[in-house]
Amino acid sequence: MSRIVLVTGGGSGLGKAVAARFRAAGDTVVVTGRNAGRLARTAGELDVRPIPCDATDPGQVARLADELGPDLDVVVNTAGGNTDLGVDQGPGLEGVLAAWRANLDANLLSAVLTTTAVLGKLRPGGTIVTVGSIGAEYASTSYGAAKAALAAWTAGLSSEVGPKGLTANLISPGYIAETEFFRGKLTEQRRDALVAATHNGRAGQPRDIAETTYFLASEGARHITGQTLHVNGGAHTTR
Ligand SMILES: NC(=O)c1ccc[n+]([C@@H]2O[C@H](COP(=O)([O-])OP(=O)(O)OC[C@H]3O[C@@H](n4cnc5c(N)ncnc54)[C@H](OP(=O)(O)O)[C@@H]3O)[C@@H](O)[C@H]2O)c1
Repeated sequence: MSRIVLVTGGGSGLGKAVAARFRAAGDTVVVTGRNAGRLARTAGELDVRPIPCDATDPGQVARLADELGPDLDVVVNTAGGNTDLGVDQGPGLEGVLAAWRANLDANLLSAVLTTTAVLGKLRPGGTIVTVGSIGAEYASTSYGAAKAALAAWTAGLSSEVGPKGLTANLISPGYIAETEFFRGKLTEQRRDALVAATHNGRAGQPRDIAETTYFLASEGARHITGQTLHVNGGAHTTR
């Protein structure tokens, strides 16, 4: 059966790979992002529907929900990134506050707003997948804190939506190459260190996250909910 899939941040990187994976299976896919030009290019390339939307803006998210039809099967919250990268923090406590709010907005509240706005559209058997980060384990920054909060929120969301036949999970990627996450600022030394921290000696690829997301939305994953799935080549292990 063809499903209807919403991918926030679907114009590039992991979101684009996720959108391509569902589209390849014949699903109807909607992608969102702030950069309307890039979103339109991706949409043309993948044969998916673009809806420009800043996931941190309640008005734009409400409009997105209105533009979507009444039904949805899969929501993938990929929109986000480390808002500290390439930006000088302003002075004093005001600067600290602004920097923390930016990361909480971009990574935590974006997913909360989008999911809340479309929750009523999700049909039984549906799935919510949100993209966290290994930074929740190791980065003692506002970015890491925002991603850690996503895990707590996902657990609560799972208990809320479970009785409706929906699942909610968090995918926590390690370092994934070939996205715009690092804004061209990743040094070779740091990249080598990130790869060396894995057990399989390679960087993650957007496809690794796309396939895991696709699995979580599949029939075989209906009893997996409220979980954080780590996709990092062993860079962070769990018990
Ligand atoms: N790459 C990694 O190593 C890595 C590791 C762990 C976790 N992650 C997470 O993976 C997710 C995807 O990142 P990526 O690596 O694929 O980087 P990316 O290529 O920069 O993708 C991020 C996407 O999110 C969109 N976006 C950002 N803020 C948005 C907002 N407020 N509203 C709507 N869309 C927004 C961006 O589009 P616009 O700029 O057009 O809005 C962009 O398409 C992020 O949540 C990131 O934190 C990445």
